[in-house]
Amino acid sequence: MATILVTGGTGTLGRPLIDRLLEDGHDVRSLSRRPHTGTERPRLRSYAVDLRDGTGLAEALAGVDTVVHCATAPTGGDTEAAGRLLDAARRAGVRHLLYISIVGVDRVPLRYYRTKLAVERLIADSGVGWTVLRTTQFHDLVLQLVKAGARSPVLPVPPGVRVQPVEVREVADRLAELAAGAPAGRVPDMGGPEVLTARDLARATLTAGGRRRLLLPVWLPGAAAAALRRGGNLTPEHAEGLRTYAEFLAERAG
Ligand SMILES: NC(=O)c1ccc[n+]([C@@H]2O[C@H](COP(=O)([O-])OP(=O)(O)OC[C@H]3O[C@@H](n4cnc5c(N)ncnc54)[C@H](OP(=O)(O)O)[C@@H]3O)[C@@H](O)[C@H]2O)c1
Repeated sequence: MATILVTGGTGTLGRPLIDRLLEDGHDVRSLSRRPHTGTERPRLRSYAVDLRDGTGLAEALAGVDTVVHCATAPTGGDTEAAGRLLDAARRAGVRHLLYISIVGVDRVPLRYYRTKLAVERLIADSGVGWTVLRTTQFHDLVLQLVKAGARSPVLPVPPGVRVQPVEVREVADRLAELAAGAPAGRVPDMGGPEVLTARDLARATLTAGGRRRLLLPVWLPGAAAAALRRGGNLTPEHAEGLRTYAEFLAERAG
């Protein structure tokens, strides 16, 4: 059994990952700006650390074998945060740093994707043993985006854009397996079981929520949208996820 620190341990991915690592018998540390709340659990310690300044990071990393880096702030600062984490991990003698990235970060020129790619490169050059897993979008993100769009009576949907959503608990399971192993470099991508159009996903989400909205096709300009229409965000050859988006919605409704 190992001592494993999960950055972003309070996030959508961090929480099921911590559950799985605890089930597997590891000593687990959860790091995020706000402390990990919920039921007290033996073998789980919470560290309130802001990776943007690093105060308390050395203490959180002392005695850690493996770091799973899930923390992210889409508003910016992820590259600096990763650099600070890597420096501290090297100093603490961490043997393995595992990073969760996104399928297509090298094909779709979205700003957030460019940052993820820059972080992947920092990790590969860091001298710390590393593994990078890229996955497709989590079901939760699709739900969140459609819900946000459905605040207005007309929901814009980009024609030609497809998504291959994956169940976050299955991603957590894969990360837990990788975290228990040796550094493996870039491992095969992981995608959900189905490739669905943005329109189908919006329609399914609205139906499950009992909402009616007009779906308005809106052609998105620019290189990133063109890359999405070419399927740069998809990995149909790695459709390993089992749980479908429809099953996810049904569970939420229940
Ligand atoms: N969502 C997707 O569809 C998807 C798909 C593929 C890969 N990924 C990747 O998976 C990872 C996790 O995504 P997620 O959806 O679980 O994100 P999330 O729910 O937004 O969680 C982000 C986590 O990072 C923490 N955090 C943010 N800024 C921090 C900082 N400065 N210092 C310390 N902790 C900080 C947050 O807690 P506090 O706010 O309390 O600090 C939270 O625990 C990300 O790297 C993302 O790119 C996501």
